[in-house]
Amino acid sequence: MKQPLIVANWKMNGSELLLRDLVRAFEHQGPDLAAQVVLTLPAPFFSLARALLESGEISWGGQNIHWQDEGAFTGEISAPMIAAMGGTHCIVGHSERRQGWAETDQVVASKAQACLRADITPIVCVGERLEERQQDKTMEVVKRQLEAVITNLAPALLEKIVVAYEPVWAIGTGQEATPEMAQEVHSSLKKLLGTQCLQSPPVLYGGSVKADNVAALLAMDDVDGVLVGGASLVTEEFVRLCAYAGEQAKNNSNG
Ligand code: 13P
Repeated sequence: MKQPLIVANWKMNGSELLLRDLVRAFEHQGPDLAAQVVLTLPAPFFSLARALLESGEISWGGQNIHWQDEGAFTGEISAPMIAAMGGTHCIVGHSERRQGWAETDQVVASKAQACLRADITPIVCVGERLEERQQDKTMEVVKRQLEAVITNLAPALLEKIVVAYEPVWAIGTGQEATPEMAQEVHSSLKKLLGTQCLQSPPVLYGGSVKADNVAALLAMDDVDGVLVGGASLVTEEFVRLCAYAGEQAKNNSNG
């Protein structure tokens, strides 16, 4: 059975209390969670994550890094810093960073490479804005964003990344893409990835994912997991979402 990958993106939210609460809730849930869970956290919570998630059943990571490994970059953190603390993943190219910090495709590509140099998994986000979808430019946009990252990656490195398709209009709006819309984009992204490596990296869907819609999304052939914002900040909702994801994975493998 292929385990779905569930990544929580807390953005600039949460607290140590929430992290403790979430970890406790997963412990109560028991060991048979059929999903792989990664919490991407604000940097001030990294040390607590290291202490609480020592067993490695749940992994953790960052939401952004600088593309350099070290230097005079006040306020930034680097991929080697996350790796040194035991973090395993980092989001790069989230649409909030592309929009709010003017991150270009090239910057995102450099950040993905910084993650790979530090041996952590970049979660590379791509996604179209509403007007781009309305102008029928979705595929053009997401392919351009992905190509910038994968063009110069050797197949062995490409297989180590994770891709997340997050339509910008679905983020934080409660208006998720339909499973069919997600499938259509994921299948094109996988075709593109497949031209450069044998084993396509996982492609996650993000944008208003909740416990109630996760199973339908994961029932799609090319949706390998989800990237979850708001619903990852409510313990009971997120634990339920992960449990439903695990159940769906079992159904997929039985069907
Ligand atoms: P929401 O789940 O709150 O829509 O956020 C999605 C997201 O941006 C995850 O990276």
